[in-house]
Amino acid sequence: MDTSQQPRRTFLGMPGYGDISAGAARGFYRASESPQYVSMQYNEGSLLAQNFNALWCTALNLKQKGASLDYFAMQHADISPQPGWLDVLIEELEDRDLDVLSVVVPIKSVHGLTSTAMDSDDRSAFHPMCRLTMTEIFDLPETFTSDDLGHPLLINTGLWICRLNMDWAPKLHFTVNDRLVQVPDGRYMAEVEPEDWYFSRLCHELGLKVGATRKVRVAHQGKHVFVNSHPWGSQQFDQEYVKESVLDVGKPDGWCFPYDVPGWLLPEEGLALARLAEGKLVLEVGSYCGKSTICMAQTAAQVVSVDPHDGRGTSAPQDTEKQLRGNLAQFGVADKVAVVKGTFHSSEDSDQLFDLIFLDGSHDLESIQQDLTNARRILKEDGLIAVHDYREKPGDYDGSWDPGVTEAVNKSLESGDMEFVSRHATIVVLRPKELVPA
Ligand SMILES: C[S@@+](CC[C@H](N)C(=O)[O-])C[C@H]1O[C@@H](n2cnc3c(N)ncnc32)[C@H](O)[C@@H]1O
Repeated sequence: MDTSQQPRRTFLGMPGYGDISAGAARGFYRASESPQYVSMQYNEGSLLAQNFNALWCTALNLKQKGASLDYFAMQHADISPQPGWLDVLIEELEDRDLDVLSVVVPIKSVHGLTSTAMDSDDRSAFHPMCRLTMTEIFDLPETFTSDDLGHPLLINTGLWICRLNMDWAPKLHFTVNDRLVQVPDGRYMAEVEPEDWYFSRLCHELGLKVGATRKVRVAHQGKHVFVNSHPWGSQQFDQEYVKESVLDVGKPDGWCFPYDVPGWLLPEEGLALARLAEGKLVLEVGSYCGKSTICMAQTAAQVVSVDPHDGRGTSAPQDTEKQLRGNLAQFGVADKVAVVKGTFHSSEDSDQLFDLIFLDGSHDLESIQQDLTNARRILKEDGLIAVHDYREKPGDYDGSWDPGVTEAVNKSLESGDMEFVSRHATIVVLRPKELVPA
């Protein structure tokens, strides 16, 4: 849907009961760069679900009276989002063609848990399968849906947006369900289905496309501030609900992402490389400190890693060879990696042929085009080329933009030199239609 031509109007509600944090107030009044298109309302009330429903009814009634409103958004009074967050959410909702989009917000505990959750497939259960931790959130795409989880996504309502001009809008509402249960040792326990999980389940019943994102930065204001900008917390997975991270299912055995190694690779990209490299002979162009090298070497038969080790073309040029070797040793993959100090020039350097070539060297158009040509000379029949930092537009995924990479890849697809195989965040995987003779 192309909405770029007309202004998009939002009803923004803040339910509150008592204090509003300073950051929340700033976020409320600076939600959009175009405040003339936002109708804001603060509603006071101690009954949470009723307060949410009152705001929802206000928006529906305004719409019924003829107000032009495209979206409903909500911000809790203890959520401090980045300025312009509403514009980011609208753009993401439209780009991903979603109906509802919620920002991942950590709950106020040291464990790094969020109230964004995966539902169990047994819908009668009061419990979800588990809540996602901040560590797990950073193993998922920046914006994700039930498809990425393999189970229904339950969102939280601290900061979210949904479409308003749809038939299903009046069917949505919030309810908190409580009950007492007797556990096997005879004790009674209070259980709750919170209003946001009830709301999420209702969205799924109505067939809505629901997403969660960390594209908007927030701080959840308690006695301390709990942020969503990086993986953190004492728990890697929800220890109350599950025995291991539900996201580990499908990960190669024992594989881990080297979070602490400097570099720009995203966890989902690391996992994709690990799967592509499984049992393969891999050539890597541009290892830097070894983030991608470690991801692939854990599963590959062998990785040949080429880099001049001066960090050229990066935002942090430095001698990286010592760091690379130290990191490879720390992750126990040093014997699987042949470190070659130099640049990737041509097949004349070696007569070895590779199953997979990962290109992450210099990112200007000329270099990447040269690397693509060189790669086609030393690839096995049916081999694959993976290219890092391919984005449709500036800022996609992690705020960066390497137009040379995008242009080179697009040209090779348009010319028919390469065919598209798959996409994993900013990694695009290509198969040459024909290999170039060495
Ligand atoms: C973006 S970094 C690579 C990041 C790395 N893949 C990771 O996951 O952290 C780019 C690296 O490419 C290297 N480089 C630049 N031009 C190159 C070339 N022609 N051949 C090999 N490496 C190159 C730079 O020295 C730098 O270390």
